[in-house]
Amino acid sequence: MGVTNKGRRNKINKHILIGVGVGIGVFLLSSALCFAWHRHQKRREGSPSSNPLIGSSYAETTSRRGDPELGSTTFQTHFFSYQELQEATNYFNVSNELGDGGYSTVYKGKLKDGRTVAVKRLYNNNYKRIEQFLNEVKILSCLRHQNLVTLYGCTPPESQELLLVYEFIPNGTIADHLHGSRSNQKNLTWPLRMSIAIETAEALAYLHAIDPLIIHRDVKTNNILVDNNFHAKVADFGLSKLCPTDATHISTAPQGTPGYLDPEYHQCFQLTNKSDVYSFGVVLVELISSKLAVDLKRQTSEINLASMAIHKIENCELEQLVDPFLGYQSNMVVKMAISQMAQLAFICLQGEKEMRPTMKEVLEMLKDIESKMQIHQNTETLSPNSVVDNWPSRGSTP
Ligand SMILES: *[C@@H]1O[C@H](CO)[C@@H](O)[C@H](O)[C@H]1NC(C)=O
Ligand SMILES: *[C@@H]1O[C@H](CO)[C@@H](O)[C@H](O)[C@H]1NC(C)=O
Ligand SMILES: *[C@@H]1O[C@H](CO)[C@@H](O)[C@H](O)[C@H]1NC(C)=O
Ligand SMILES: *[C@@H]1O[C@H](CO)[C@@H](O)[C@H](O)[C@H]1NC(C)=O
Repeated sequence: MGVTNKGRRNKINKHILIGVGVGIGVFLLSSALCFAWHRHQKRREGSPSSNPLIGSSYAETTSRRGDPELGSTTFQTHFFSYQELQEATNYFNVSNELGDGGYSTVYKGKLKDGRTVAVKRLYNNNYKRIEQFLNEVKILSCLRHQNLVTLYGCTPPESQELLLVYEFIPNGTIADHLHGSRSNQKNLTWPLRMSIAIETAEALAYLHAIDPLIIHRDVKTNNILVDNNFHAKVADFGLSKLCPTDATHISTAPQGTPGYLDPEYHQCFQLTNKSDVYSFGVVLVELISSKLAVDLKRQTSEINLASMAIHKIENCELEQLVDPFLGYQSNMVVKMAISQMAQLAFICLQGEKEMRPTMKEVLEMLKDIESKMQIHQNTETLSPNSVVDNWPSRGSTP
């Protein structure tokens, strides 16, 4: 979708000028807001990830390693010139395209300082997009979490085009690995899927714990990236909104992706943090089944993966849902963990949001499932005839 709109991308109209004016205001305000947040949030996310690629010029303008006491200027987003990003992406060469997100195209780029980055180019530079863009910048440049994609900076608001510069995550999306271009690699073993679920839950629980609350709004396997060691990085906060503390919901025009969207949204046009929990439930089912969230090739009652999963789980037909590759039939430890994760997905997918757990509870339950799995795995490996051998492990832990 959307690639046909290429012609519209470069169009600069009056709305942009208005948008840019308003944008600068918003930008200054948001810097102040970020600073306030940081003071409030100081070190809540644990250790800031240290990236040796980040040069000194970058350190001046962000707080990655910085001291929150240094002052509000350290919380501005770094600006990259349009020219620099044009050159970095080989003039937005098709061969540099990483993906098409529906309202944006992402290009791989190499900056002069050697950093490899992902440059996001929005299709329509109209007023709404700029607002969304600034919203994304504002939110992301405040966030530091090992399971969230880091925003390095953007083009200045007065630039001919608005571009976002992100940390480059090399190994594709979970969707690529589960049922897309990388699925034939069969890299996602059950223990990896388990830890990807936990890391994604960590990121979402972090967003939900921030004051004011951040709702991701577009949780899906296409927005969960993996690095070299298959650590999860949650991306795309384009649909996020800052939520005022005194409001438990926000009413806006429909957003999100079919197959992942909270069913309650259609009744009351409200997205809550429980909407992310619902979408995360769909992600869990995808991790169990390797099936698409929406697949028109499936029979009518099973087009929607969430409905299909609920039906199968209720009828004790989980084995029909599970990806045979995972060893559900042959490995008791895996079978138990998958069953527990399916139960968890089931409660996340409840139609009524009050019935769903919070993201924090989801995270605790997932950790619990994983630790039980590891205990059983260790006891099993003591026996010579163990079905559990060759558990892959990663070089490093987050
Ligand atoms: C895009 O990149 C390819 C490979 O690097 C190159 O052959 C081609 O000429 C480039 N196209 C443009 C329009 O620059
Ligand atoms: C991950 O990406 C790196 C860099 O592009 C590549 O060298 C590596 O083979 C990839 N690993 C997998 C499992 O795809
Ligand atoms: C991922 O799968 C590819 C192809 O099967 C394999 O070459 C590569 O070593 C795997 N990577 C990891 C980290 O397991
Ligand atoms: C969701 O938001 C409500 C209201 O702001 C808050 O009380 C609750 O703790 C949040 N839940 C999670 C999982 O963060």
